[in-house]
Amino acid sequence: MKENFKILSIESSCDETSAAVVVDGREVLSNVIASQISTHEKFGGVVPEVASRKHIEAISAVVQEALDEANVTLNEIDAVGVTYGPGLVGALLVGLQYAKSLAYALNIPLIGVNHIEGHISANFIEYKELEPPFVTLVVSGGHTFVVHMKDYGEFEVMGETKDDAAGEAYDKVARALGLGYPGGPKIDKIAKEGNNNAIKFPKANFHQECLDFSFSGVKSSVLNYLNKAEMKNEEVNIPDVAASFQKSVVEVLVENAIKACKIKNVDKIAIAGGVASNSCLRATMINECEKEGIKVLFPKPILCTDNAAMIGSAAYFEYNCGRTSDLTLNAIPNLKLGQR
Ligand code: KG4
Ligand code: ZN
Repeated sequence: MKENFKILSIESSCDETSAAVVVDGREVLSNVIASQISTHEKFGGVVPEVASRKHIEAISAVVQEALDEANVTLNEIDAVGVTYGPGLVGALLVGLQYAKSLAYALNIPLIGVNHIEGHISANFIEYKELEPPFVTLVVSGGHTFVVHMKDYGEFEVMGETKDDAAGEAYDKVARALGLGYPGGPKIDKIAKEGNNNAIKFPKANFHQECLDFSFSGVKSSVLNYLNKAEMKNEEVNIPDVAASFQKSVVEVLVENAIKACKIKNVDKIAIAGGVASNSCLRATMINECEKEGIKVLFPKPILCTDNAAMIGSAAYFEYNCGRTSDLTLNAIPNLKLGQR
């Protein structure tokens, strides 16, 4: 494989339009992100139709900015990488059509990328020497998985959420607390002022060997707590609720990730996805893993939330495994990890 392989990558699966130029899967020349958060904030969540329209408005300028910042021209690009799932179908289609047109016009390979693989790949950008195997915990707004990454492109899902994703639970609880959207960073911040032992919210416990997650119980329990307080006209201590909720979520994430390392006998956990920015998750993971001799890896926050650099990295490793896509590639809203 040619060295200095430059991939132009595009990500548009949810509410960020992003384009990046990534060299050899690990070096980021540019990573431009146009966020739609301020548009969706007033609706309390992402409105799919609005997201698609905003992607259409933004994409050309975002791609051009990524090329300019990287100081490369389209003719110097070796391949185009693009997220084709999972995500919102209308949003995905915008990036996908743009990428297909570019690949066709430039006559270079098109590489379809699974968004979740992209999140995991952010760790290869952050840690230049990182190689599989390792365990990875993917925690985002739409997904919660504990995965054994055996080799490049080889994923074994060891546990997943049976209902809400971790980020989704954060967002729903934040909305009930009147903290706004996206709720994860707001709960993270306000929980620092609270007592995490103030309220006992349930923690989903499946049987000992099971690494699955469930966050709808803890979420409902917070909502019931708030309803009861309202009915009794009692004041709610928001930092205490946020800290106690967060503790329930983080403890189970950390426990399952450590169990997975023990089962697979690996000594590295790479955390990925928007919730990987959470300060309580980071601190608890480091603390608990230290006791077990496990090294914890986190990409920097800008590589945790949706961005195209992670897609460019995953595209490179897909290409290295001999996988490219043709121009019939379609958006797959519920694409599974490892599905091709
Ligand atoms: O990975 P991401 O950008 O998009 C998806 O693929 O879903 O993740 C977004 C999610 C949202 O639910 C957001 O509330 C959550 O990540 N998030 C956080 C934090 N920053 C973002 N959750 C907890 N603490 C944070 N600091
Ligand atoms: Zn994501």
